[in-house]
Amino acid sequence: MGIIGVAHIIDGSALARKLDDETTAGIAGLTKSGYYPPGLAVVLVGSDPASEVYVAHKIRACRRVGIESYEHRMPEGTSQDALLTLIARLNADPTVHGILVQVPLPRHIDAGVLLGSIDPAKDVDGFHPVNVGRLSTGTGGLVPCTPLGVLKLLDTVIDNLTGLNAVVIGKSNIVGKPIAMLLLEREATVTVTHIETRGLPEIARQADIIIAAAGSPRLVRGFWVKEGAVLIDVGITRVARSNGGERLVGDIAFDEVEHAKAVTPVPGGVGPMTIACLLSNTLKAARNARNHKNG
Ligand code: GUN
Repeated sequence: MGIIGVAHIIDGSALARKLDDETTAGIAGLTKSGYYPPGLAVVLVGSDPASEVYVAHKIRACRRVGIESYEHRMPEGTSQDALLTLIARLNADPTVHGILVQVPLPRHIDAGVLLGSIDPAKDVDGFHPVNVGRLSTGTGGLVPCTPLGVLKLLDTVIDNLTGLNAVVIGKSNIVGKPIAMLLLEREATVTVTHIETRGLPEIARQADIIIAAAGSPRLVRGFWVKEGAVLIDVGITRVARSNGGERLVGDIAFDEVEHAKAVTPVPGGVGPMTIACLLSNTLKAARNARNHKNG
């Protein structure tokens, strides 16, 4: 083999800025044609600190591209009925094109019932069973933001996924499963692995593409990675620093994978793309609403 190179670091922040520019231009076109600006309602129940940070990022990002955001902060003890009433009101509001209910939800709320009550046309997270079904049958719909961002990151370094071995680590409804569906649509050979999978290092070593979404810091070690593989790190874990601060650590041992073809950093990889895809999904929902109205 030749000289072992240095893995290309995929710049998720730069790609997100590019997508945001496209979204901004799309929104300008929409409002110029006399339609009202896309509106995103963000529902946060309780005060989970990580959720607070995510929601603040999402609201700020909306402002940046010209999306109207409507924040609905509900106390931890809000009843399921009250939340269902709020969603029904947002479903009926023509100025709201996207509805996002931040998860996790308090334990007394049935997330399946609440997320299932969102109009699938406004489900910019792509969590509604109708959109999950559309994704798994390849029939359109709104696609979950993190998986969509992962695919766009892969597209910057791989021309064609046909026949490539992709190993997904993690089987969550938000990330692992929808990513597997997107990769299958692109004709990759997909292996979905999880906490109970036996012999994960050997399975990972077969991969042309590894999507690490286990939420387990530095799970994927250098010896798990085939030379020339492309690595996408979805993991974000806050780890205390010895000086009292915090740092974000991904699922991939970043310093051990210089023999990979390319890798996403944490932070600055998947995270910014998730938000950029939320904004582009909101524009998509607004365009669909306009076309539906005119059609
Ligand atoms: N919590 C963690 N990630 C997400 C996400 O993408 N959407 C929502 N609604 N909640 C989340």
